[in-house]
Amino acid sequence: MTNTVSQADIVRAVAQLRAGELVAFPTETVYGLGADASSVDAVRKIYAAKGRPADHPLIVHVADAVQLANWARDIPPYAHALAKKFWPGPLTLVLKRSANVPDAVTGGQDTVAIRVPSHPVAQALLREFGGGVAAPSANRFGHVSATTAAHVREEFGDTVACVLDGGAADVGIESTIIDCSRDGPALLRPGWITPQQLEKALGTPLAAPDKHAPRVSGALEKHYAPQTPVMLMEGDLVVELAHSLTRQGKRVAVLARTALRPVIEGLVWIAAPADAAGYAHNLYANLRELDHAGCDAILVEQPPEQAGWLAIRDRLVRSAAGSGETLG
Ligand code: TXA
Ligand code: MG
Repeated sequence: MTNTVSQADIVRAVAQLRAGELVAFPTETVYGLGADASSVDAVRKIYAAKGRPADHPLIVHVADAVQLANWARDIPPYAHALAKKFWPGPLTLVLKRSANVPDAVTGGQDTVAIRVPSHPVAQALLREFGGGVAAPSANRFGHVSATTAAHVREEFGDTVACVLDGGAADVGIESTIIDCSRDGPALLRPGWITPQQLEKALGTPLAAPDKHAPRVSGALEKHYAPQTPVMLMEGDLVVELAHSLTRQGKRVAVLARTALRPVIEGLVWIAAPADAAGYAHNLYANLRELDHAGCDAILVEQPPEQAGWLAIRDRLVRSAAGSGETLG
C-alpha cells in the first residue's frame, strides 16, 4: 500500500484498535492519534496521552460517507453535497450526533465532527476496522501538530505503541471544519479547502460562526505552538528585530519567505516555499526545526493576505498567541 506500511501492519493496528489501544496513523492533513470511537475507555486514553481537556471534542474518522448515518442524524442536503464533493479529503463536517455516540467523543455537545480522510493508509485502516476512529492531531495538547511518524514519536515516545508510518502528510495543516448542525453552513476552522471552494460547491455563502455555534478548541488560546516564543511580523521588521535581539545577546530563528538572509552571527534562517501549498506542507516541520535550534525567539514573516493563505495565517497567529510578553 505504501513503501512502509504493509497489509500485515494494518491488520495488527486494527487488532490494537479492537483491544482498546491507541494507534497513530497518517492522514493527508496531519497524523492522527486514533482510538475506537465507540469505546469510552479507549477514547479516554487519547485525552490522557495528549493532556487534552475532556470537553474538547474529537473528530470521528470513517472510511466513506455511507457511514455518516451511524454517527449523525438530521443530515441536511447541503452536508451530503459537501461530502460528495470533498470526501475523501481534508474536510470535517459537524453534524447533530446520533444517540450512540459516546459523550467522551463529543465533549458532551449535541453534535459530532466527522471526516473521511483520503490518505491510503488511513483508508486501509478504516476499511479493515469497519467502525469509526476518533482521532485528534497526534501532538501533545497545544503543541505543534505532527506531519511525520518521527514527529509523532517525538511527541509521545513509547506511550503510543503503534505508529503507522505513511510518510510526510501531503497537505500539512488540519482539515477545514464546517458546522452543518444548524440553519446554514458555517466555517469553524479554516483549512486547505477554502471558503471560496466551499461556497462554489454550496451555491450559497458560508456564515461566520456566531456565539451559538459549536465550540472549537484552540479558537483563541495558544495552539500549534513551539516551546520557543513565536512572533509574527512583516519582513522588514523581522530583519530589524533579528539585528537588535542579536545585539542584546539573544539567539534568533527566522521562518522567512526569502532566501536573502541578513548577515547576522548565529542566525538560524529557513526560507519557506513561496507557494501556499508548499508553505503549508512544510509549516509544522519548519516550526519544529526552528524550535529545536535552541533560540530565544522564532520570528515569522507574515504570509500574504490572499485567500489561499487563510488557514496558514490562522495557524501562525495561534502559534504566536501569548508569546509577546515571554521574550521580555
Ligand atoms: O485534519 C484534521 O482534522 C486532523 C486529522 C487527524 O484528521 N484532526 C484534527 O483534530 O485536527 P483536532 O482534535 O486536533 O482538532 C479537531 C477540532 C478541534 O478544534 C475540536 O474542537 C473540533 O475539531 N471539533 C470536534 N468535534 C466538534 C464538534 N462536535 N463541534 C465543534 N467542533 C468540534
Ligand atoms: Mg489539534
